[in-house]
Amino acid sequence: MSIEFHDLKTQYRGMRERVAARMQAVLDHGQYIMGPEVAELEARLAAYCGVKHCVGVSDGTMALLVAMMALDLQPGDEVITTPFTFIATGEMIALLRAKPVFVDIDARTWNLDPAAIEAAVTPRTRAVMPVSLYGQCADLEAINAVASRHGLAVIEDGAQSFGATSRGRRSCALSTIGTTSFFPTKPLGCYGDGGACFTDDDALAERMRRIRVHGQSRRYFHPVIGVNGRLDTLQAAVLLAKLETFDDELAQRERIGKRYSERLAGAVRTPQVEPHNRCVYAQYTIEVDDRAAVQEQLKAQGIPTAVHYPVPLNLQPAFAGLGLGEGSFPKAEAAARRVMSLPMHPFLDEATQDRIVAAVRAAVAVKSPA
Ligand SMILES: Cc1ncc(COP(=O)(O)O)c(C=O)c1O
Repeated sequence: MSIEFHDLKTQYRGMRERVAARMQAVLDHGQYIMGPEVAELEARLAAYCGVKHCVGVSDGTMALLVAMMALDLQPGDEVITTPFTFIATGEMIALLRAKPVFVDIDARTWNLDPAAIEAAVTPRTRAVMPVSLYGQCADLEAINAVASRHGLAVIEDGAQSFGATSRGRRSCALSTIGTTSFFPTKPLGCYGDGGACFTDDDALAERMRRIRVHGQSRRYFHPVIGVNGRLDTLQAAVLLAKLETFDDELAQRERIGKRYSERLAGAVRTPQVEPHNRCVYAQYTIEVDDRAAVQEQLKAQGIPTAVHYPVPLNLQPAFAGLGLGEGSFPKAEAAARRVMSLPMHPFLDEATQDRIVAAVRAAVAVKSPA
């Protein structure tokens, strides 16, 4: 039996009728763009996160762009962020001709190190953009404290952490703006691209609502420059259907993540989840010494793995212009060499998980011949 890395097929089998009914309703009313499901979803997600506003957008990358446009980020402004993330985080800063200012991570959590922020603040700094990597919230409490001392906005890139909590509060509700992605394999995923921005700030919410529809205030009146960044009604319908079992799935993810950590303890570096955080394990990621060899051995046994992410943003050719070569961020660079993610989804049964654990333990125990 082959092992799935993310098992969307099993998930779909359990919610087929619910999804079909929701999608059929859209096909019947025909409002494919900004239909009623979008507003319904926004209200549900805002309540879920405990924030005043949710603005559905076309994907998690767009959510970052819309958030920064709403903050009126200007060319040359600086945004402090982590180099250990998916390209979109730094990419959207650069797209606005602003400057991503990378600071190193906390090697324990793989998230932006709040202690490194202060030294990176300059008169051009406008915002801090932590990423809640692999499903664990970044230390927003500490980050917000530094940001408020310097009058900076904080955008949590919660693309991987929707549903996670920190000190009892939800990811995406922990900062000036929170953003997320509903890419199919995210903890809450739709059947295509989707994303959302969250804020308690009425004025920012209004700006984000306009920006996602070409900066429009009413039809064909455009007070500001915007984008086509709307969330499809059909995707909102899918998400409404999936929300019904989302909390059960999160409980399964958490149980499976903890079980991995218990069984892999001592063999590999397992995720360090802070006691005040609840991680949604968008990925279950470990650190190993000889990653390529471990991956190879698992692959030979039909166990898929992935690397999130093999190259930190400072070493991506797209950011070569920043001149931040090897050695600029030792912790992020070490993590990029060592991390690998194991199959993780709410339907991973214990026997399969035990097989994966045994294979990892065996692979790391194999010493290369002297
Ligand atoms: C940290 C992070 N930010 C942003 C994104 C972009 O989301 P999307 O693929 O929905 O545009 C992703 C997606 O993988 C992500 O992991």
